[in-house]
Amino acid sequence: MARVREVILGVGGGIAAYKSCELLRRLQDRGYAITVVPTPSSLNFVGAATWEALSGRPVTTQVWERVDEVRHVSLAATADALIIAPATADLIARIASGRADDLLTNLVLAVDIPIFVVPAMHPRMWLDPATVANVDTLRSRGFVVMDPEIGRLTGDDVGPGRFPETIAIIDMFEELISAKRDFLGMQVLVTAGGTREAIDPVRFIGNRSSGRQGAAVARAARDRGAQVKIILANSQLSTQEVRDLNGIEVISVETATEMHAALEREFPAANLLVMSAAVADARPLKILDEKIKKGQLKDIQLIENPDLLKSIANMRDKQIIIAFAAETNSDIGAAQEKMKAKGANILYLNDVSGGAIFGSDSTEGFILTSNGAHIPVAQTSKDTLADLLLDQALIQLG
Ligand code: CTP
Repeated sequence: MARVREVILGVGGGIAAYKSCELLRRLQDRGYAITVVPTPSSLNFVGAATWEALSGRPVTTQVWERVDEVRHVSLAATADALIIAPATADLIARIASGRADDLLTNLVLAVDIPIFVVPAMHPRMWLDPATVANVDTLRSRGFVVMDPEIGRLTGDDVGPGRFPETIAIIDMFEELISAKRDFLGMQVLVTAGGTREAIDPVRFIGNRSSGRQGAAVARAARDRGAQVKIILANSQLSTQEVRDLNGIEVISVETATEMHAALEREFPAANLLVMSAAVADARPLKILDEKIKKGQLKDIQLIENPDLLKSIANMRDKQIIIAFAAETNSDIGAAQEKMKAKGANILYLNDVSGGAIFGSDSTEGFILTSNGAHIPVAQTSKDTLADLLLDQALIQLG
């Protein structure tokens, strides 16, 4: 199954709706983008303004709002999973009988994605034969319905019906969507973008790296359970792409020197370093305070920047390091030499002839590993390459 990113959170009209605010937040921490679809009655407990503020997205409850967008169809087309939490007895009954009397129930009929239902209600309602039969119907149709917890309800009553702990909901949801969590407990450090070296207050030496490949690796590692930090230099990521770094610590830098300092600070705690940033090979010997005149440009003296990768590899304990080489030819032998010289375990040889790769969403090249593997990567998305690189890193991390 493709990695789940877009999740619809359907909210039923029960007091546990307020607990779904926390659920939404924790899902965002794990990198899911959430659109909230409350039932009209649930707005008595948590209003649309709260959901809009928390999700950063518009909230509608009826099919006749934003009619031009045909919300139930457009949401159904882009979502990867639907969580209904809390699901009330009435909502479960309406879904079981195929009703479509609000946006959420329309959506349930319109989607073809995993649906995860988290009921919460008074124990007598949960145990009522009508609810029992409705839950059975949902389960027989492939919905995953979580059992409520047994415990104290809003009043003094005790029994099955409590909304489960957020973490229990997320665990079961992730099991359902079988998201690969093979980086759980690991710390992944990624560099991305391109460093800039100031010449004067106006000009700099830089490069065309967009930061997209590094961002893709960071997202993939996060989605596979890792704690991720990204050292980001002057990226050209869109607002949405920056938002998609949700749950990832972003350390912004400008120059190679700043990136070096951040790497020295963060590398010791990491299990894996992915060095996808394009580091400027040189910087002006002096940064001038005044804008220099055209005639003086030929006098700019450059000094080579240190090889950050090589220097950091010398600090390594057990870390695995992935390097990138952007080349206009595909000389595998030379790339293997580069990997060895830099002390990397894995190197992605990126064919950038024609400049097509910069800022693009796709890539093509070879994955080389220090244990001799040589994997051709035919034109593919940067997201797919990110997962392939992480697969190789996992082999070496043991
Ligand atoms: N890199 C680095 N520090 C530098 C230059 C590059 O850490 N000063 C890292 C990049 O992040 C990348 C890898 O080294 O992971 C390969 O970069 P590349 O530019 O291909 O290597 P260079 O050593 O600059 O080799 P060349 O002379 O072929 O450009």
